[in-house]
Amino acid sequence: MTGRFSENRIYNEDCVTAMPDMPPACVDMVLTDPPYNIVFRSNRRKERFDFIVNDDLPDADFEQLLNAYFAECRRILKPDRFLISFMSWETIPFFERAIRAAGFTIKSMPIWVKNNFGLGYYTRPQYEPMYLAMKGKPPPPETAISDILRFACVNSGDLEHSCQKPVALLQTLIRTFAPEGGLVFDGFMGSGSTAIAARKLNRKHIGFEIDPKTFEAAQNRIDTEFRQTSLLWE
Ligand SMILES: C[S@@+](CC[C@H](N)C(=O)[O-])C[C@H]1O[C@@H](n2cnc3c(N)ncnc32)[C@H](O)[C@@H]1O
Repeated sequence: MTGRFSENRIYNEDCVTAMPDMPPACVDMVLTDPPYNIVFRSNRRKERFDFIVNDDLPDADFEQLLNAYFAECRRILKPDRFLISFMSWETIPFFERAIRAAGFTIKSMPIWVKNNFGLGYYTRPQYEPMYLAMKGKPPPPETAISDILRFACVNSGDLEHSCQKPVALLQTLIRTFAPEGGLVFDGFMGSGSTAIAARKLNRKHIGFEIDPKTFEAAQNRIDTEFRQTSLLWE
């Protein structure tokens, strides 16, 4: 990686304004979890979690954010590589338009099925969809995975972020769709789950988190995780 960024680092910056400083074709996979724009305010552990930045935008602004972001994702992704983005069922049309407009081909919609369900008057939500998309024509993975991915939510005692994804789920996606030793990018790092999953699998990571408190928590989590791992080997 050239320019002002280094591998295995996260930066406390707005991804949309920072990404143009990244060189073209420098990352091997985008695995990302943008705000869903569903005014997510967690009922759990309110004392630790504020509302999510950019989760309460007028539709036109949300569209603009996703368009700018996915266009930059395509520019920084090497040819013949994969992008996976989480989303909510409510915002699927926004993600679909932005990912296609950036020039990706959408390949499938894997679903994360959780071990428990949330609150709801009509149905109670127990899944989150994602898009698997491609820049160019990457070869298929050695072993194709099911598009139904059953993984337990992060235990509430271990939660650092209200939208935290299980590392084991992200590891399955990275193991399947990022080459060994490759660089995995996430512009919306939250608590740093993508970074941890990538590093645990002998991949590198890079990404951004706009919120200073969330960034600090992510940085501490990553430092603790890898300090502990390196101590095990000393
Ligand atoms: C859905 S959460 C990601 C959660 C993450 N996957 C995890 O496991 O912790 C989205 C994150 O994007 C951050 N964010 C929102 N707008 C951003 C922007 N323009 N640039 C960088 N980060 C942003 C929010 O602060 C939030 O932490």
